[in-house]
Amino acid sequence: MFDFSYFPVLETAHFRLRQITSADADAIIGLFGNPEVMRYSNSPPILTNEAAVEFINWLEGHFQHRAALRWGITFRGDDRVIGTCGFHFWDAENRHTDIGYDLLPEYWGKGYMTEIVRVLVGWCFQNLNLHRIQADCTAGNIGSERVLEKVGFTLEGIWRERDWEHGRFVDIKQFGLLRREFLPPGS
Ligand SMILES: CC(C)(COP(=O)(O)OP(=O)(O)OC[C@H]1O[C@@H](n2cnc3c(N)ncnc32)[C@H](O)[C@@H]1OP(=O)(O)O)[C@@H](O)C(=O)NCCC(=O)NCCS
Repeated sequence: MFDFSYFPVLETAHFRLRQITSADADAIIGLFGNPEVMRYSNSPPILTNEAAVEFINWLEGHFQHRAALRWGITFRGDDRVIGTCGFHFWDAENRHTDIGYDLLPEYWGKGYMTEIVRVLVGWCFQNLNLHRIQADCTAGNIGSERVLEKVGFTLEGIWRERDWEHGRFVDIKQFGLLRREFLPPGS
């Protein structure tokens, strides 16, 4: 079982996923200050260096408390962060966690996040002793839904008008993936 004694680096066909540090503050502003990226989020945009550093420290705190990990997504051979992904709400007793992800719009629609989420989910199942992985997304966020479907998640339900996003209540779709649906039984 993963013990948080180090920050793991993950590799996919195109990407290297690594720890986000304060040196990535500008990249974090570029990502979470972008209205397209934030369109289906109820978090405030990150627009200043101070807010970016606060966010990065918050991520570091989750790592130190062994509660969650958020990786920076970089192309292999280019260390610039172009997105993030990770797990949170890890419940070791009930053996489930939630995942999340985001990418700069110029890289959307190329199959990149599907590639990344497959590796993320595989790492989580292998290293966190999970039985299931959850993800939720705002109704209408078709790109995110498609990523989850392509990785093998099932739509399990819809919370009606659960979140307040950009001045209105929105429906939230809950997706789940069981270990046996992703990994061979016994692995
Ligand atoms: C969601 C997100 C990560 C998807 O990343 P991506 O790299 O573009 O995803 P992929 O290319 O692997 O797959 C996207 C799929 O959605 C489809 N898609 C995207 N937008 C679509 C739309 N408006 N209508 C129909 N299909 C759409 C793509 O065609 C693709 O499906 P396909 O492979 O069957 O053609 C990206 O859009 C993003 O960062 N959005 C902002 C942050 C966000 O919403 N994160 C998720 C929060 S739950």
